[in-house]
Amino acid sequence: MTARSTNPSRGTSTGVRREPFGTTGDGRLVERFTLTSVSGVTIAVLSFGGVIQSILVPDRAGALADVTLGYDTLPEYEKDKSYLGALVGRYANRIRAGRFSLDGRDYTLAQNAGGNHLHGGMRGFNKAVWSVEPFEESGDVGLVLQHVSPDGDEGYPGTLTSRVTYRLTARGELVIDFFATTDTPTPVNLTQHAYFNLAGSGSGDILGHVLELNASRFTPVDATLIPTGELRSVRGSPFDFSTPEVVGARIGADDEQLRLAGGYDHNFVLDRGAAADLTLAARLTDPVSGRGVDIHTTEPGMQFYTGNFLDGTVMGKGGIPHRYRSGLALETQHFPNSPNETAFPSTILRPGEEHRSRTIYHFVVRD
Ligand code: BGC
Repeated sequence: MTARSTNPSRGTSTGVRREPFGTTGDGRLVERFTLTSVSGVTIAVLSFGGVIQSILVPDRAGALADVTLGYDTLPEYEKDKSYLGALVGRYANRIRAGRFSLDGRDYTLAQNAGGNHLHGGMRGFNKAVWSVEPFEESGDVGLVLQHVSPDGDEGYPGTLTSRVTYRLTARGELVIDFFATTDTPTPVNLTQHAYFNLAGSGSGDILGHVLELNASRFTPVDATLIPTGELRSVRGSPFDFSTPEVVGARIGADDEQLRLAGGYDHNFVLDRGAAADLTLAARLTDPVSGRGVDIHTTEPGMQFYTGNFLDGTVMGKGGIPHRYRSGLALETQHFPNSPNETAFPSTILRPGEEHRSRTIYHFVVRD
């Protein structure tokens, strides 16, 4: 399959539209920002949770579909428990029992997922109203989002100042940069939690999508989805996506790891050698429409989650329920539970350092 950037002649304008989106239950004003680029890709972002609400992408014939799961209204985002499209922090994925020790001190975090800490706790960065400033720069359009998490937030030490930029380029790339600084040592693991359905949100499940992951190992989990500490080869198992595979082809296989997670919900160890720079993490394709997304990142890992906890009870955009496996997430990240695993790449940020991480979603059309 050859890939090309989305049709550059399709869009006519580049810009950022800013409009009110609503007021939260506790009186915070929320805005929506719509980024339009000449690539034909259009992305809507909310100041609530830094949520990517929609991503319009053309198919082979130029027909647009919204390829990400979400909601139409703010109250639905306030209730959301699936982190649809949101920025996740301070720590993406799980920390065992919500406990860790750092520099000889023990910390206890909010336990919001079966006794573990998940995605920053009860009120993570996905529920914060971020301050947002739009920018336009040499054909790119984007937003700078900022959020200050106070000392003790969800149990974490130190005041953490986070900045995230979303930049949409003329080639249809969404470049996401994460920055953070702290006044006290603390774990940090920020990610974007978009769920993709490249056939279009609400159109069915993602089992027919084709996925390639640049990972020869993954981190197997225990029954509570905490990594055991092992880095296991994917070879010969349903976790081998080192060449393109249909997502649903082996998801029902008789495999202990698939059983424990109810499908794919695992961190993959990206093959990057020693390089700390951008590396290909994943290529995802809907073979029917030709829509694709290529993901590059500076992160060491990627959580591949097939929407196993979506159960059709929560309505999404257009009143269509978020059904079982109707979207999949590819979250670039450090490994889950790293504060308790000294052999995993460190997630500890110290005063005077800057946390920096980049992920690029390149929306493409494949022939
Ligand atoms: C996690 C899942 C979790 C989902 C939504 C994913 O990143 O890996 O276990 O259910 O987010 O909360």
